[in-house]
Amino acid sequence: MNLDQKEAPLFTALTRYIAKNYAYLHLPAHRQGKVLSELLSPEGKSLLHLDLTELPDLDDLYYPQEAIAWAQDLAAALYKASQSFFLVNGTSGGIQALILSLCRPGNELLLPRNCHRAVLGGLILSGAKPVYLQPVINQEFGFAASIAPEELTRSLKEHQDCRGLLLVHPTYYGVAGDLARLTALAHQKNKPVLIDEAHGAHFPFHPVLPPDALSCDADAVVQSMHKLGGSLTQSSLLHLKGRRLTSYRVADSLRLLQTSSPSYLLMASLDVARRQMALTGHELLNQVLEIAFQARDEISKISGLKIFGAENLDYLGACFFDPTRIVISVKQWGLTGYQAAQLLSSAYRVQVEMADYYNLVAIVSLGSTREDAQALVKGLSEICQKEAKINQPLPDVPLSPPSVPARLTPREAWFAPNRLVSLKESVGLISAQEITLSPPGIPLLFPGEEITIEMRDYLGQLKKINIPVKGFTGPQKDKLQVIKS
Ligand SMILES: Cc1ncc(COP(=O)(O)O)c(C=O)c1O
Repeated sequence: MNLDQKEAPLFTALTRYIAKNYAYLHLPAHRQGKVLSELLSPEGKSLLHLDLTELPDLDDLYYPQEAIAWAQDLAAALYKASQSFFLVNGTSGGIQALILSLCRPGNELLLPRNCHRAVLGGLILSGAKPVYLQPVINQEFGFAASIAPEELTRSLKEHQDCRGLLLVHPTYYGVAGDLARLTALAHQKNKPVLIDEAHGAHFPFHPVLPPDALSCDADAVVQSMHKLGGSLTQSSLLHLKGRRLTSYRVADSLRLLQTSSPSYLLMASLDVARRQMALTGHELLNQVLEIAFQARDEISKISGLKIFGAENLDYLGACFFDPTRIVISVKQWGLTGYQAAQLLSSAYRVQVEMADYYNLVAIVSLGSTREDAQALVKGLSEICQKEAKINQPLPDVPLSPPSVPARLTPREAWFAPNRLVSLKESVGLISAQEITLSPPGIPLLFPGEEITIEMRDYLGQLKKINIPVKGFTGPQKDKLQVIKS
């Protein structure tokens, strides 16, 4: 690395990236401020002018009473929550605060196995014991959807003392289960339902989109307003509804986890993004949906490509899908999603949100334009002609990790003495860390779980075919932390 102090590599990388002017089919939705006109107005233009702190008249996020309290109340009224909180450490911070406010060491918490890695912080801080629900796997696209009601019923029966349930609604692929039914099942047992709605802040504003979690009677919901609501990266909302969670405990947990110097830029962007959604959300989403439906239509005509749509719903784990999220299977092209995303980016200046082994995920959001969508269609059509090996589909990889026994809670594993071993040597040992598939940020192995032969072989196979499995360390990225025995 060049350690010349005249360098500012991150700033340079950002300015170079911006100069490439990619077609924008990813997050955040605000598209460098373009969809929040307040931020480009004379008052907002110099963002630095808004970067103030808890001065007179500017309230205090820890104990809000004035402008922040009012802005949060407006968010609660819009989303039909009893109380809303501004978050400055993303949805991750909100999920952790919810778990910490609900669970004590040893309490069981039901979670889908395909939950986001953000839950891990909550599990370690609280000492909760995760009980995993197996999601329904969509075999055709190769991703995990939501959980089926039968799976929840079974687990609630087996774990009658659990503290509650956390679900993801929708998944990173924009797919959602029957949340109203799942919530009703949990409420019959008087268990609170916490929802990771990182990808659903726009749901209440258009009937074509899946139902939002609060309308399905969830008790607590965390939304990445920065992803689809148009606010700045890192800003999220936490909503509470009803009495199953103690709101002062949630507020205490947020004070424990969030900075005492919250960014007014982030909070102000939440305020104006909420106002924009309230005043023009439906209209803006009409345009977004029009662009998305046209792109879906054109992409579905390209040879070998399949788009996840209504015909792929199984009404178990997949009851709804978000049509603004275009999940494209490139399996029949004989290319991986990673290769297709790389080609789109390098040869066609199109940046999609995410790729996995089989799929590309492009997001048409508030900031995306017709030109962006056309660039995607054109890029895919040309890749189809030049690169695709139609009728030579990709070899299959195992879709979900093997089940492994949990020997310790994530918290116990986190605090236990540990050592580094290679993946080869790890069989029979207990992991002290998580190994995550990222994107989409889903742990395959949690701290406290035993590394079985099947898990070693599974991780080894993913690494061998360059699937982005994160968490290994050492110069060869082949070591992981295990508990010292
Ligand atoms: C399903 C899901 N939950 C939670 C998160 C964390 O959200 P944030 O980045 O706002 O902390 C993400 C991030 O991508 C996610 O995909």
